[in-house]
Amino acid sequence: MSLHDDVEEVLLDADAIANRVAELGAQLTADFGDRDPVLVSVLKGALPFLADLMRAMEMPVSIDLMEVSSYGAGTETSGQVRILKDLSRSIEGRHVIIVEDIIDTGLTLNYLLKYLADKAPASVRIVCLLDKPARRLADIPIDYRGFEIPDRFVVGYGLDFDERYRNLPYIGVLKPSVYGGAPPEG
Ligand code: IMP
Repeated sequence: MSLHDDVEEVLLDADAIANRVAELGAQLTADFGDRDPVLVSVLKGALPFLADLMRAMEMPVSIDLMEVSSYGAGTETSGQVRILKDLSRSIEGRHVIIVEDIIDTGLTLNYLLKYLADKAPASVRIVCLLDKPARRLADIPIDYRGFEIPDRFVVGYGLDFDERYRNLPYIGVLKPSVYGGAPPEG
């Protein structure tokens, strides 16, 4: 039984992702030059994107990782998130680039933007691989975007369903039989 058998459709294959990540890396290199930015990523979904993007940036960068979890379903629309792992170094005076896997409702990032802005960085920019605008609840200023995708639940290249499929090298849509019934909420 292969993970691939659970995939109904491949939306973005590994080559398409690699090409776009290379373009984003080149753009960030041109824009940030010698400003020594810190790439801040949110565990766990953004890991493959972070790993590939940082190697496409031909300049000094640092990285830092956060882990967050949403509060229970009832309060989700408030956009309140709990920080499970905080930054390991100060970002005061630094140029921060938030590296995200996917922006769906935008509530997670909306919270993070405010949280990071309070720490007096020199600037904060957002790069996301996937933008799913259909369900957006918070207006997020996305500075760099890999792909806009339709309102479908996707897995692979870091994205999971129930902690699985993160290691698929492409981004695909699961067969409905895998989750049985309505597609999961992002
Ligand atoms: P937001 O706060 O609704 O923008 O949610 C962002 C987070 O939800 C992402 O970092 C993902 O972890 C998760 N998510 C949203 N859509 C999907 C999807 O289609 N597949 C897998 N995870 C998703």
